[in-house]
Formats: sequence, C-alpha cells, structure tokens
Amino acid sequence: MTSDDVLLSVRGLRIAFDGVEAVRGLSFDLRPREVLALVGESGAGKSLTARALLGMVPKGATTSGTVRLRGETDLVAQRGRRIALVPQDALSALSPVHPVGDQLAAAVRSVKGVSRREARARATAALDRVGIPDAVRRARAYPHEYSGGMRQRAVIAMATINEPDVVVADEPTTALDAEFQEQVLRVLGEQREAVGAALVLVTHDLGVVREHADHVLVMYAGRQVERGTAKAVLGRPRAPYTAGLLASLPPDAADASAPLSPGPATRRRRLPSIPGSPPTLDALPAGCAFAPRCPLAEDRCRQEAPQSWAAADGHEVSCHRRDEVPHPATELFLEQPA
Ligand SMILES: Nc1ncnc2c1ncn2[C@@H]1O[C@H](COP(=O)(O)OP(=O)(O)OP(=O)(O)O)[C@@H](O)[C@H]1O
Ligand code: SF4
Ligand SMILES: [Mg+2]
Repeated sequence: MTSDDVLLSVRGLRIAFDGVEAVRGLSFDLRPREVLALVGESGAGKSLTARALLGMVPKGATTSGTVRLRGETDLVAQRGRRIALVPQDALSALSPVHPVGDQLAAAVRSVKGVSRREARARATAALDRVGIPDAVRRARAYPHEYSGGMRQRAVIAMATINEPDVVVADEPTTALDAEFQEQVLRVLGEQREAVGAALVLVTHDLGVVREHADHVLVMYAGRQVERGTAKAVLGRPRAPYTAGLLASLPPDAADASAPLSPGPATRRRRLPSIPGSPPTLDALPAGCAFAPRCPLAEDRCRQEAPQSWAAADGHEVSCHRRDEVPHPATELFLEQPA
C-alpha cells in the first residue's frame, strides 16, 4: 500500500474534557471504499472518535492530533460534502418543519449549482433508491409522517446524496427494531457501494461487524485494543477484551470455528458478558486499563500499559499476553458449572 491509497488518516488523536482524556492517542488509516467498524462498550470513545472525523467534537472538548482527508486538515469545510454523518437518532438529522424531499433538495443545492427542479428530482430519486415506496408523494411528507425505519433510510439518502468520500454512521440501528436493523444496514451498504464511499461504522455488536465490515478497530477506555481485517480479528482474537466481546455474542452469531456448545462432558456455561464494567476515565488504573476485568491479568499488566504489536496474520494487538490467549478465545470467558 502506498500513502496514495489512504483516504482518511488519523494520527495521535486525543480528546479530553477538563483534562480528563476520553480518547487517548488513536492512529489509523481509512482507505477508499473500506468499511471500518469502531467497536467497544459504552464509553469507549467511539462516538467522540467518529465525530472528530467530521470536525464535530462537542463543546468543551480539547483535541490534539490530526485527522486528514486526502492530506487536507480543514475537515469542517469538508463536512456534509466529502464526509457525511448518519447519526444514531434519525430525527435529529431531519428538520420537523420541512418536507423530507425539500431537505434533501436543499442538501443538493448547497453543494451543486443545479436548478430547484433538478434538485427536487434528485431528492425523489434518492428516496426511491433507499427503498421508500411512492417516493414522489413521500418527498412531500414531513419526518413525523415517516416510520422509524423510513426516517433512517431518509437520513441515509441525505448522507449519500452528494456522493461523499466517507460516510460515518454512529450506531445507525440501535433505535430500531431488530427486523429493521438488518434492512437499514443493507441499505446503508448498498448506498455506500453505489457512491463509492468508505464507511466508518460505529457499533457495539460484533455480529454486525462480521456481516458488514471488512476492517475493525476494537476500543477500550479511549485506546485501540486490536485492529485489522474483521476476518483476522474475529477469527483469531489476540486480546482478551475482544475475546470477551465475542463470548457475549449469541452462539449462532459467534465464530463457527469457535464452538460455544462443547460436548456434554465438557459443557460449560457461557458468561452473559465480560464481568465488571469499564473504568471511569478520571480514575484509570495504572498499566492496562482492562486489567481489573481481565482473566489473564498479571503484575506486569498492572504496571505497564501494553504497546501495539503485529500478530502473525498482520493485525495489531495491544496486550502483554497476546501469545497466550487461547483459541477459541471465548474459552477465557467460559465457566465450569458449579
Ligand atoms: N460532552 C461531553 N462532556 C464530557 N464528557 C464527555 C462528553 N462526551 C463524551 N464524554 C466522555 O467521553 C466518554 C466516551 O464518550 P463516547 O460518546 O465517545 O462513548 P461511546 O463509545 O460512543 O459510548 P456509547 O456506546 O455509550 O455511545 C464518555 O464516557 C464520557 O466520559
Ligand atoms: S495486557 Fe494484561 S490485563 Fe491487559 S488485556 Fe493483556 S493480559 Fe489482560
Ligand atoms: Mg456512542
């Protein structure tokens, strides 16, 4: 890979509130058309990172490090054109007082010098592309007249209508019923494909990562735990935290090569999730932030934060005991019955 292949480049990203760091030195590249999932539990810093890609960190945040889109750093100027956001709450992205079609048409006209009539035609076509039935009529309707799933599709149409280079989607499905989640992700994938954009997909669901992402960055307490192709990281996790996330997936969604229902003689109980909860950011433990919850933690872990190493298959991992994580790694989070 040459640097020409890099679309978005993040180096040493730090985001703090009142001196308390929530994102602690993230570096990664996004390549054209890549689908990168940001994964981790609540508070890991996923949304802050996603928003920093658009130059949209919350008021009061101090940031350092760089985010460059094809070498340029003025990301606020790129926002909505070359980098677009699909927010978690579709309603927040749509104005309640204008018809959906008008909002899409306005987005087109903000970037392209086209007539109102042409912009309206593009808006209707965009609604049609995301599978909104009777798009001509629906374009005249207001967001509250749409169902939740339809609103989310309209927001995807909005995010892709100007053919951005990057779409950032922050948990685009958590507010939806399970049956709509898959549809919305499929529509998002299709639109991304159609406009040739890369996608940064924030999710806490490794099942979604497996189905929809080609790369994954696992985060814990503002740092990278593991990063690489979804196949390598999920197929053979080298960090106990990733193993724990995998162990909490329902069995049918977990890796086929990591059977979760061994024979009767060895039947063990799957823990519902990783024990404990993430640390509060103003009281991070010294050394590895995951140590208080980690089944492999040893003294070294509590003294020294692990750096990043390359695993044999090329993915990166931050764990002192990366070579001792069993395969299947979900073993670490299984319990013998009492
Ligand atoms: N506006 C803010 N003011 C102060 N602290 C904030 C603010 N936004 C985020 N934080 C801090 O940064 C941490 C990470 O926030 P972020 O929203 O990125 O988490 P997340 O990984 O997206 O979690 P979730 O899965 O719950 O959405 C929070 O737990 C909080 O401590
Ligand atoms: S560095 Fe130590 S505590 Fe941290 S994940 Fe690895 S084994 Fe666990
Ligand atoms: Mg979030």
